[in-house]
Amino acid sequence: MVLNGALFLLFCAAARAGAAAASGGDGPLLNGNFEHKPNRCHMNGTRVMGAHAIPYWTVTGFVEYIESGAMQGDMVLAVPEGKHAVRLGIESSVQHELRVTRGKYYSVSFSAARTCAQSEKLNVSIVPGDPPGELPIQTVYTSSGWDSYSWAFKATQDVVSFVIHHGDDQVDDPACGPIIDAVAIRTLNDPPHGTSSNMLKNGDFEEGPYITPGSSCGVLVPPMDEDDASPLPGWMIMSDSKVVKYIDSEHFRVPHGSRAVELVAGLEVALVQEVDTVPGSTCRMEFSLGDADDRCAASPMIVQVATAGGSKSVAYNSTGMGGFARDKLDFTAQHNRTRVVFYSAGYHMTSDGTGTLCGPVVDNVSLVCVPQPHARRLLR
Ligand SMILES: *[C@@H]1O[C@H](CO)[C@@H](O)[C@H](O)[C@H]1NC(C)=O
Ligand SMILES: *[C@@H]1O[C@H](CO)[C@@H](O)[C@H](O)[C@H]1NC(C)=O
Ligand SMILES: *[C@@H]1O[C@H](CO)[C@@H](O)[C@H](O)[C@H]1NC(C)=O
Ligand SMILES: *[C@@H]1O[C@H](CO)[C@@H](O)[C@H](O)[C@H]1NC(C)=O
Ligand SMILES: *[C@@H]1O[C@H](CO)[C@@H](O)[C@H](O)[C@H]1NC(C)=O
Repeated sequence: MVLNGALFLLFCAAARAGAAAASGGDGPLLNGNFEHKPNRCHMNGTRVMGAHAIPYWTVTGFVEYIESGAMQGDMVLAVPEGKHAVRLGIESSVQHELRVTRGKYYSVSFSAARTCAQSEKLNVSIVPGDPPGELPIQTVYTSSGWDSYSWAFKATQDVVSFVIHHGDDQVDDPACGPIIDAVAIRTLNDPPHGTSSNMLKNGDFEEGPYITPGSSCGVLVPPMDEDDASPLPGWMIMSDSKVVKYIDSEHFRVPHGSRAVELVAGLEVALVQEVDTVPGSTCRMEFSLGDADDRCAASPMIVQVATAGGSKSVAYNSTGMGGFARDKLDFTAQHNRTRVVFYSAGYHMTSDGTGTLCGPVVDNVSLVCVPQPHARRLLR
């Protein structure tokens, strides 16, 4: 008994020292994939008993350490990366310390899967920082059941804690909580904006959240409030609970550069940017619409492009095998701020029978506005 106690303390001390370490650069957090196992003396079955039992993490509440291939009822558990992950029960959290640079923006990406059918939400936050952001994980976007989500924050200190909290879903079974894995971070560069050749910021979507190399499912960008940090600098995702999918050219067809946005949730989500404009000026927005080469065939796919000064439905016939078309919207700026909006006017699924949601791809968006007297000359 005494020996056990001593060992217990020894392991505790080791785990605590680890928890203070933090991430260096872009990429997975230390033990972000939970492959370093907790000490067995801090476990009761699958339940993690000690706050610092999992190396580099602090846990609260009912947290389970899940192994791929283990059975839960008649279900075989799978994890998205490696062999291990954690499950957050009712009123529980996992927390990781981050060394960041005050004033900079960061995006955190992680995989999450629901385990039961009820509506589930996660609260994601930085401590100290703003109140938690609510991340809806009810809709499953990937056929594996695992989705990779992103979330962004502005660092107000050099050492902060990233917290994923699972509240009370009003279900009785604590084992119903979501499974979390593959937590990574990326520093967001602030793209220049307001240039005369493109008034939009990050119009090519090259700046965005971390996508795990080798992951072929992109990363989802959830809805946010207007003053929240965005994993897609310059852009806001406006929705009640739906997302857009951020895709890379390694795994998808992307019209320009190496990143683009796929509108996977139809009318329920809009991709929005707001820019300063001179009321009365003549504006032209140009953009590429295409498909991601993910078997999302539809004739036509319709994207609605809208501003206060005018809007347009753009049809794109998708074979599902990649391709794009350029189009444009001419309008007159009505106000000193102009909001440009893209959304998919239809719902689409991949033709492989997996029920994976998909949709049109938006990329390479530019906006140029010129004062009235010069409009004819400059916007031919
Ligand atoms: C471990 O869990 C079981 C079942 O939930 C419980 O009966 C037991 O008391 C727990 N043991 C410890 C040491 O907490
Ligand atoms: C998330 O945090 C907010 C407070 O910021 C709280 O009102 C809400 O209940 C929390 N949701 C969950 C699922 O814990
Ligand atoms: C992307 O946009 C730029 C500027 O609007 C344009 O010059 C270029 O041709 C576009 N590229 C593609 C592949 O459409
Ligand atoms: C797209 O397909 C529809 C039929 O499904 C056809 O009427 C239309 O002309 C096609 N558009 C283009 C640009 O090919
Ligand atoms: C923009 O317009 C709003 C009202 O529409 C006004 O309150 C605000 O002062 C204007 N801002 C600038 C910079 O002109």
